[in-house]
Amino acid sequence: MNVGILGTGHYVPTKVMTNKDMEKIVDTTDEWIRTRTGIEERRFAEDGIDTSDMSYHAAKEALKEANISPEEIDLILVATVTPDTPFPSVACTIQDRLGATNAAALDIGAACAGFVYGLVTATQFVKAGAYKHVLVVGADKLSKIIDWEDRSTCVLLGDGAGAVVVGEVGEGKGVLSFELGSKGSGGKDLLQNKEGFMEMNGREVFKFAVRQMPESTVNVVEKIALAKEDVDYLVPHQANIRIMDAARERLGISSDKMAKTITKYGNNSSASIPMALSESVKNGNIKDNDLIVLVGFGGGLAWGAAAIRWGV
Ligand code: ACO
Repeated sequence: MNVGILGTGHYVPTKVMTNKDMEKIVDTTDEWIRTRTGIEERRFAEDGIDTSDMSYHAAKEALKEANISPEEIDLILVATVTPDTPFPSVACTIQDRLGATNAAALDIGAACAGFVYGLVTATQFVKAGAYKHVLVVGADKLSKIIDWEDRSTCVLLGDGAGAVVVGEVGEGKGVLSFELGSKGSGGKDLLQNKEGFMEMNGREVFKFAVRQMPESTVNVVEKIALAKEDVDYLVPHQANIRIMDAARERLGISSDKMAKTITKYGNNSSASIPMALSESVKNGNIKDNDLIVLVGFGGGLAWGAAAIRWGV
C-alpha cells in the first residue's frame, strides 16, 4: 500500500517580533542574528493561545485540504515539547475540540525531529491496515520556555503549528523511505533545565546538526535507489540557515529548492517542518509528483528524515 499526505495545514501567530525588537531585550544586534542564523523576525502566540489552540487551527486546515471529516480520523499524534500540560495531552485536547470521536490520541516527544517521528509512525499504522487516517501535528509554544536572559537562545525561537493528514495515496506516491535515529549521550547539549528554560550548547549542537542533517538527507534518497539530483525540494528543520544550507549543498540543489521559513518564523521546534511543508504546498513550491525530503534534528538528541513522492 502507498501511504502519504492527503492534506496540510498550519497556524502562524500574528504577534511579530523583529530582530530590532530583540535588541531592546538582550545584548544583540540585527546583524549578528541575521548573519549567524538567517532569522529576521519570529512570531509569538497571542495572549491566551496555547499549543493546543495552534494545533487545532492547523489541524482544521489540514482536514479541509484532505477533505476528511473529524469522525474519519483513527489516530491523532501531536509532536510537541511544550504541551499545554503533560496531561491531558494536546492530542486528547484537540480530539475533543475537533469532534474526532473515533480517534485514539497521544503526544510524541522527539523535539525538533518530532514531526518526522510522527509522520513515520502514522505511515506504519496505515500501511499495516490498522488505521485509515492519521492526523499528525507538530506544534510548539517555545515562548513558554525561553530564557530572556540568554541571548544565545532567546533570539532563535518562535511559536507555531503545522499538521498533515496521512492516508492511502496512489501508486508510486507517498512516503518512500525514512530514517530515524537517536543519540542520548548528546542530550546534555540541548535540554529543558530545572528552571524550565531551554538551555543549549550551541556549538556542540551545531557540529552535530551540520553533520547529521546532510547525512540523513542523502541516506533516505539512496535507500530508494535515486540520485541526489532527483530531489525537487527540501524541507529541513528551521534551526539555522547555515545548517540548512549544508544539507542543501550535499544534495547539490539551489537555494530556491529549499523551504526557508526561518527568516520570518525563527525556529519553531516540532512545528518547523510541518509549517514549512504546508506553506510550500500553498505557495506552489511543492507540486504533484515532486520528490521531496523532510529532515529534522533536535533535543534528545534525535533526528529523522523522510523521502516523499508528493501527491495523492
Ligand atoms: N547576539 C550577539 N552575540 C551573541 C549572541 C547574540 N544573540 N549569541 C551568542 N553570541 C556571541 C557569543 O557569546 C560568542 O561570543 P564570544 O566569542 O565572545 O564568546 C559569539 O557570539 C559566538 O558564539 P558561538 O556560539 O560560537 O556562535 P555561533 O556562530 O555558533 O552561533 C548559534 C550560535 C546560532 C546558537 C549556533 O551555534 C547554532 O545555530 N547552533 C545550533 C542551534 C540549533 O540548531 N539548535 C537546534 C535545536 S533547538 C530547537 O530546535 C528548539
